[in-house]
Amino acid sequence: MRNLIDIKDLTVEEIDELITVAKDVMQSPEKYAEKCKHKTLATLFFEPSTRTRLSFEAAMLELGGNVLGFSEAASSSTAKGESVSDTIKVVGGYSNIIAMRHPKEGAPLVASLKSDVPIINAGDGGHNHPTQTLTDLLTISCEKGRLDNLTIGLCGDLKFGRTVHSLITAMVRYSNIKFVLISPEELKIPEYIKEEILEKNHIEYIETSDIEEHMDKLDILYMTRVQKERFFNEEDYVRLKDYYILNKSKLEKAKSDLAILHPLPRVNEIATEVDDDPRACYFKQARYGKFIRMALILKLLEIK
Ligand code: CP
Repeated sequence: MRNLIDIKDLTVEEIDELITVAKDVMQSPEKYAEKCKHKTLATLFFEPSTRTRLSFEAAMLELGGNVLGFSEAASSSTAKGESVSDTIKVVGGYSNIIAMRHPKEGAPLVASLKSDVPIINAGDGGHNHPTQTLTDLLTISCEKGRLDNLTIGLCGDLKFGRTVHSLITAMVRYSNIKFVLISPEELKIPEYIKEEILEKNHIEYIETSDIEEHMDKLDILYMTRVQKERFFNEEDYVRLKDYYILNKSKLEKAKSDLAILHPLPRVNEIATEVDDDPRACYFKQARYGKFIRMALILKLLEIK
């Protein structure tokens, strides 16, 4: 039985396969409409979500399956003190596959050790978000036509942004990838990502706090929000939350084929005037999320 806890659980070949299936689903959805008949997906969300939970549910429904679950810990027996392990054991009796989001780093891994059905990490604390990364890779593949030879700017909260950590981990496996890491001093990428992932894989990267300094070199600009829920004090959050606001003037030197991505939700970090720019891909990116999750559900349920 396979789980998806970390993006490294999938080989590059398996990711390519998922992207191929997701593109086929987009092209011929009718072929997939009954693939998961009589299968049930449980979405256990101990933390808020719009895209991840609903795209998982839409994915299973469009595969002809059923969905059940909860969207907040308060409406589950977690509020009465039930452990994650017990919850997983029970829900595994009602479903064939579980997508789980939890504020504690490592909780989906612990769940996978107890589970009788595949577990998908739908985001664990400030750690990982592998299905967002699959979404990002499908977006890059569709919008740029390749996953190699790219200079990627990552901007915003690189410390707590789990989507950034997973995306770097995935992208270093492709050839000729360079990163421009744009953040305020307090929200720099964690040392373990630099040492264990970037430096170990001999990846070229620059750290800067200036969003415009390397704009002309970027093929992808991946904006992120400052993760309010991970801050220990409100004062620091308020000081940093509007550090970057991408607007038309900041894009003046950008390439004409730049792809602007954002995992969403957006707060203030991209001005709405950018939404009409043909380089803005973030709403398309959210739509791609459903197709790659359809491909992932099929893979983990071993449905051809
Ligand atoms: N990108 C993402 O994880 O969005 P949600 O928090 O709305 O699921």
